[in-house]
Amino acid sequence: MLGAVQLGLLAACVVLFVPMGMAGWHLSRNKMLFFSCALFITLAVGVHLTPYFPSISAFLSASEKLKKSDASDLLNGSWVVVAGDSQSRLMVVSLLELIMGSEGVEKVKGDLFKRHSDYSVMVEEIGMRLDFVWAPYVANLTQLTLRYKGSKDFPDILMMGAGLWDMLHVNNVTEFGVSLRVLRDNVLALLPVSSSLVADAGGGGVSEPKASHLLHLFWVGMPTLITSMLNTAEKKERMTTAVYSSYDNELAGSNLLRQSGGPLLKLDIGLLSEFCGPRCTSDGMHYDEVVYNTALQIMLNALLIESNQKPQ
Ligand SMILES: *[C@@H]1O[C@H](CO)[C@@H](O)[C@H](O)[C@H]1NC(C)=O
Ligand SMILES: *[C@@H]1O[C@H](CO)[C@@H](O)[C@H](O)[C@H]1NC(C)=O
Ligand SMILES: *[C@@H]1O[C@H](CO)[C@@H](O)[C@H](O)[C@H]1NC(C)=O
Repeated sequence: MLGAVQLGLLAACVVLFVPMGMAGWHLSRNKMLFFSCALFITLAVGVHLTPYFPSISAFLSASEKLKKSDASDLLNGSWVVVAGDSQSRLMVVSLLELIMGSEGVEKVKGDLFKRHSDYSVMVEEIGMRLDFVWAPYVANLTQLTLRYKGSKDFPDILMMGAGLWDMLHVNNVTEFGVSLRVLRDNVLALLPVSSSLVADAGGGGVSEPKASHLLHLFWVGMPTLITSMLNTAEKKERMTTAVYSSYDNELAGSNLLRQSGGPLLKLDIGLLSEFCGPRCTSDGMHYDEVVYNTALQIMLNALLIESNQKPQ
């Protein structure tokens, strides 16, 4: 009989070891895409196994995930930008905690959590620059991409996400869709320098990328919202399950994400937070760090794979 813990371990191995193993084999892009799908399906299946898991924390701690030293090697000398709302900020906390340890993070938390502001830190030990850019609306993310385009200076890793503010304060799904498409166009405009996507599209022809470095792009997905737990009447009224799905559909239809042929790999906070459930949140929107830590592991594994497939 397969116990809950064994099942958890099995799923954890599939999610975390398979990518590490594959990374060594210099995957082609198609395989990488296939792999992303496989990862997604595994996680989706995981959700249906939820009742069998003692807790997501046991699930995570049981797996040999990437440790501080692996992450340090992977991020050594790189410039990482995380842009978006409080969900993105929680991704920054997870990343800093992995690299600097919880004591290190306690020291910087005051600055990082200054309401609605940017934050920047240089982790001297590994020469990693990390910027958090407060960009609560999709339109703010577009402004950011325009800034990079203008300065011709790009981070190595760009993680971004928005949607909750658009949902709460603009509350017009049509406009959300429009701003996502504008963002996609602007992200694509950043890419000729560097993307693995464009490297493939060139087909080895005349338009070979001149880039010396790859730009790795990730989308921090919206969390699952537990309407009854939301902490204001306005949120409860505007952020319903129906509105959430219409926003999610708009995202899927915007071709911003790899799943729909776009440039950004989605970190599925929605799925992971659903997996964790009401016991992992006190306001139905911000979840315990285990959710963001898991998303970070997925991000690092994807990065490991991408770093192993340099364009020709
Ligand atoms: C980072 O990379 C540099 C040179 O590539 C190396 O000398 C250094 O030891 C690395 N640091 C860590 C912490 O991996
Ligand atoms: C974000 O975008 C909104 C709407 O376009 C704008 O009012 C606001 O000033 C921007 N905020 C930041 C931090 O760029
Ligand atoms: C939503 O935005 C669209 C496009 O800007 C506009 O045409 C429409 O009237 C708006 N809907 C509402 C309910 O305000």
